[in-house]
Amino acid sequence: MSVIELSMGSWISAAVGVAARLGIADELATQPRTDAELAVTLGVSRDSLEAVLSALLMVGVFARDEDGRYRNSEGSEQLRTDHPQSLRHMCMLLTGLYAQGCGSLLEAVQTGKPALNARYGMGLYEYLEQDAETARIFDRAMQEVARPVAAVLAEHLPLENVRTIVDVGGGNGELLKGILAVHPQLTGICVDRADTCRRAEQALRESGDEDLLGRLSFQAADIFQECPSGGDIYLLKNVLHDWNTETAVQILRSISTAMRDRPADAVPPLLVVMDPVREYDQGAALRPLIKMVIGEQGTGERTEADIRRETAAAGLQVISISQLPADLAAVACVLA
Ligand SMILES: C[S@@+](CC[C@H](N)C(=O)[O-])C[C@H]1O[C@@H](n2cnc3c(N)ncnc32)[C@H](O)[C@@H]1O
Repeated sequence: MSVIELSMGSWISAAVGVAARLGIADELATQPRTDAELAVTLGVSRDSLEAVLSALLMVGVFARDEDGRYRNSEGSEQLRTDHPQSLRHMCMLLTGLYAQGCGSLLEAVQTGKPALNARYGMGLYEYLEQDAETARIFDRAMQEVARPVAAVLAEHLPLENVRTIVDVGGGNGELLKGILAVHPQLTGICVDRADTCRRAEQALRESGDEDLLGRLSFQAADIFQECPSGGDIYLLKNVLHDWNTETAVQILRSISTAMRDRPADAVPPLLVVMDPVREYDQGAALRPLIKMVIGEQGTGERTEADIRRETAAAGLQVISISQLPADLAAVACVLA
């Protein structure tokens, strides 16, 4: 690709963002439509919509039949909200808040500060507390990327004698929902920031799923300081990647302290850290850039040696490392 094509990549990305926001793939899922029909349904300008759709056709997102009707293509299917591997909200997050952070990349390079901080004067989670709409998109995006991992964990977690799983920084509980659905004997505790727990609890109540309501609870906590005890297995997925070593060790210590707080005859607790680790990460080349935009100051790419050092500093011992979907490594730890 030429430098001009590369420089215009953000225009394509913005067009994907518009399609995701407007829910165009959802509209086309029922039947193909002309741009005029779509514009009326979506309440937008026909000419502008056509410009966006033409750009997206060029990259295989949506297709146009000979009669001028647009339909979904393989490339647009994951923009459907109800697609089993939907990434609609992840696309909204990447082309929304994260792209705005990228707009301050030069400042980040010049100052060494995270780009999001340079732009908004605050870190990711502080920002989300002040922008309810983006926080909702963030939760849904995390839910989308958690789904494939939940399926693998439901099959491979060692569940003998396990009653309770605690997901630390578990967002709206998607990982636990996926595991609990397959294992009716389990209960789950999802630990996250207060506002995330509030939204997740409300969504669960509104779902009317009595079984899950009885087995899944949300507990607000600052995981830098504390974590609920009582878990036989602790999960920590896609949390450490936001934080530098010092903060990561603080989070791991909160968990190891909770793991120690249990009767002597209880099954030894297990922690599974799921995070990008360089040796297991196909997308490793972009990772430092992502951290520079949304991570805490000083958050670097983690290698296997780093994660072993950080877990050891928190009183944990790594017993295995394996590959998971989504370029994650699963690092299983017990108390040292
Ligand atoms: C990148 S998301 C990952 C969510 C989920 N584990 C997943 O993989 O889908 C990180 C999560 O950590 C939570 N988090 C960040 N800081 C926290 C804090 N101080 N205490 C509790 N949770 C926190 C966020 O609210 C968010 O849900």
